[in-house]
Amino acid sequence: MQAKRIQFLFLSFLVLLKYPSHARNIDDEDVKRSHFPDGFFFGTSTSSYQVEGAYMEDGKGLNNWDVFSHIPGNIKNNDNGDIADNHYYRFLEDIELMCSLGTNAYRFSISWTRILPRGKFGQVNPRGIMFYNKLIDNLLERGIKPFVTIHHHDIPQELVDRYGGWLSPLMQEDFVYFAEICFKSFGDRIKNWITINEPNLLVDMSYITGWYPPAHCSPPFGNCSAGNSDIEPPIAMHNMILGHAKAVKLYREHFQLKQGGSIGIVGMTKYFEPLRDNEIDRQAVSRALAFTNAWLFDPLVYGDYPAEMRLYLGSALPTFSPEEINYVKGSLDFIGMNFYTSLYAKDCIHSACISGWDSPIRGFVYTTGERDGEPIGGRCGIPGFFVVPEGMEKIVNYMKERYNNMPMFVTENGFSPPQQNDQVQVLLQDTNRVDFHRSYLAALARAIRNGADVRGYFVWSLIDNFEWIEGYSQRFGLYYVDRRTLERVPKLSAKWYKKFLANGTIDHSNEEDFTTRSFGNTNATTLGSEASKSAI
Ligand code: NOJ
Repeated sequence: MQAKRIQFLFLSFLVLLKYPSHARNIDDEDVKRSHFPDGFFFGTSTSSYQVEGAYMEDGKGLNNWDVFSHIPGNIKNNDNGDIADNHYYRFLEDIELMCSLGTNAYRFSISWTRILPRGKFGQVNPRGIMFYNKLIDNLLERGIKPFVTIHHHDIPQELVDRYGGWLSPLMQEDFVYFAEICFKSFGDRIKNWITINEPNLLVDMSYITGWYPPAHCSPPFGNCSAGNSDIEPPIAMHNMILGHAKAVKLYREHFQLKQGGSIGIVGMTKYFEPLRDNEIDRQAVSRALAFTNAWLFDPLVYGDYPAEMRLYLGSALPTFSPEEINYVKGSLDFIGMNFYTSLYAKDCIHSACISGWDSPIRGFVYTTGERDGEPIGGRCGIPGFFVVPEGMEKIVNYMKERYNNMPMFVTENGFSPPQQNDQVQVLLQDTNRVDFHRSYLAALARAIRNGADVRGYFVWSLIDNFEWIEGYSQRFGLYYVDRRTLERVPKLSAKWYKKFLANGTIDHSNEEDFTTRSFGNTNATTLGSEASKSAI
């Protein structure tokens, strides 16, 4: 008993040492950078297709999103990423924005077809290598650590045409081939690699609902011209998991020791609350967590899919051979979590549910953002996203418990406002985004205070960008991007993040305060050129 008490006192003392007194009761209003451990990474995040543009320039080949977005009707307003934010040409200016914010990390992805225009069926494009070299070198020169995602949704169209992309096991080797070129070309300077972004989101959007390329689905999920929503998602997921694990194996055997980096994956994470206060919905919550988060992370940590998935999917869920288990299990140095929202979960085994949710691929769980017409949190521009800050603490705790508190990064967290208002003034006065980040950061700080090993937080996104099927209608950026001039204009949230990162020590009193400035009839073009001259 006495020994236990001494142990407890000693542990409490350690916690006190690590976290200053004001970190012990963190509410949204006073969350500060100093609530986070020393060496914590604060960054912003983007992905190649969403910001780069230059879609056919300097030798880049066509990818699946180039092709998909050019088919009328696929993307809101028929937008596409041909020009996007022209980051390919404006990356130096974008690095200036990062410096102005005071971030110490930047997460971006490498365009597969900029490096390998035809996948492994063609040559390496030296101009693609050159672009990322310049980006990386300039980031490092400015003290910003690059976190690099190797594959973020865009795959060479050549591989789609040849064998249907991620549905084919052949993709595993294609991915490893691409990853090896990345390790060889950039690995001397990259200390944090992310193999794939959100495989669990991708299989849902590409093979269950069919909203993303290759637009595969079957009723009742949708009426696509090809696909099977029950069968294809686990196959594509399996190929991505094996592709990831093989790339990690290669990195560990040939590069890690010399280059000294670490490697992980990023999953789409969601937290769930029971829709009704009963046992069957609490069980639905645990199934939803398994079918969303653990589908990806369980194999990579433990070498197999969650037991609930085996139970409900049966033979539709592929198995790992003993040899595969050897390299799949433990194939993560860290967990990357994109976290935006929590939802309610309702049981569909014992209760009646809308068609589709009562299916094995959904784990017999209906998920929704509303209970009796009341949203679970503030509404966002993306229909399935709600502002639920406490979900951040809960998901981090869930991952901490389930995966033995392995190092974690929040690789994306962000907000796009509902009812897009095209008035620039309103978009720049994004108090809702400031509240969002402040409250999610406070929740994250609480989870860290309680022992979670989270090492970084990345805002999605640095700049407004191409939001996949939503086109440019959703604006997640800390910086507004004028769609005509592509000039970047700081929003209130950029100013807030800057101040937060400086621990509140920035005095804006002698700067022009765009939060109170009246834009009157000023149009976006004028604003863009004025504001971008001075960053913030
Ligand atoms: C996650 C994805 O990784 C990113 O590409 C997307 O833009 C954001 N979520 C917002 O939906």
